[in-house]
Formats: sequence, structure tokens, C-alpha cells
Amino acid sequence: MQTGSEGAANGRRSFLGKITLGAFAAAFLGQGWTYLRALVPNIKYEPPKKFKVGSPVEFAEGINFIESKGLFIIREGSQYSSISAKCTHLGCTVKYAPLQHAQTVKVGGREITEKYEFHCPCHGSKFRQNGMPYSGPAPSSLPWHKLEIAPEDGQLVVDISTSVDSDFRITI
Ligand code: FES
Repeated sequence: MQTGSEGAANGRRSFLGKITLGAFAAAFLGQGWTYLRALVPNIKYEPPKKFKVGSPVEFAEGINFIESKGLFIIREGSQYSSISAKCTHLGCTVKYAPLQHAQTVKVGGREITEKYEFHCPCHGSKFRQNGMPYSGPAPSSLPWHKLEIAPEDGQLVVDISTSVDSDFRITI
């Protein structure tokens, strides 16, 4: 037969036993989660930096905007080039801004004749035809991308990991 104080002691023991069991279970689950998480590699999946954008003949003469890739493909006859549409200020997409009349401007010590520019709608940065900023907060030029032809199917390949000079052209 249990006395009142023995019953209270048993109750305390049972309560403490449950707390201990709960703490063990929590620790076990925490360890288990850490172990399972370690089996999954910590990889950040980014879109590829080199991709096909289509057959050269699919591009119209002049400026072609590829929204899904955030870049322009420029076709001048048989010559192709590509410039980023991502503003170098905070990354908004710049807009192609044709000029009413071609104008000659001095850029970086040399004269270029431009027929269009790129304007950023977010904070008003303006870029020359060669991508150099001349107004607004953009700190640097829009990068030009390397272009190649895929040997297997003749598609135009843009390599956004490789910046090239604004004079870079691929002739097809
Ligand atoms: S993001 Fe283009 S000017 Fe700010």
C-alpha cells in the first residue's frame, strides 16, 4: 500500500521520466535531421551561362530583344553581336531607345555614330549604343557577350560568362 508521500514521489518520478524521454526524443530527431541534411549536397542551382538562342536566320535585321535571357541580339547583315539588357545599377531591364537621327558622339576618346541607345526605366540611367553609361546612377557599361555557332546545329550560342569588347562581332 502506498502512503501519500510515496504516491507524490512516484508522480514526480514519472513526470521527470517523461521530460527526460521527451528531451532524448528531441535530441534524437535533431541529430537525425542533421544527418539526413548532410546527405543532400549544398548546391545552388543557377541557370546555365552558355545557351542557344536560335538559328541566326531567325533574327531580324537590327535589335532583337530576348526577354527570357535578358539580352539583345544585334544583327547587322551577316554580323551578330549581343549586349546585356541588365542595367548595371540595380539590375532592371533596359529598353532599346532608337534615336530620331543618327548622332556622332565621343565615347572613351573615340567617336561613334549611334542610331540607338539603351535607357533604364527604373532610375533613369542612359547608355550609349556601345553600352557605356552617360547619364544616371549606372556605374559601368552594359556588358557585351561572346557569341559562337553551335557546331552540331548551327544555332547561335551566347556565353554570358565571357565579356567581350563592344566591337566584337561574329560573322555568319
Ligand atoms: S536599375 Fe537602372 S538606373 Fe537603377
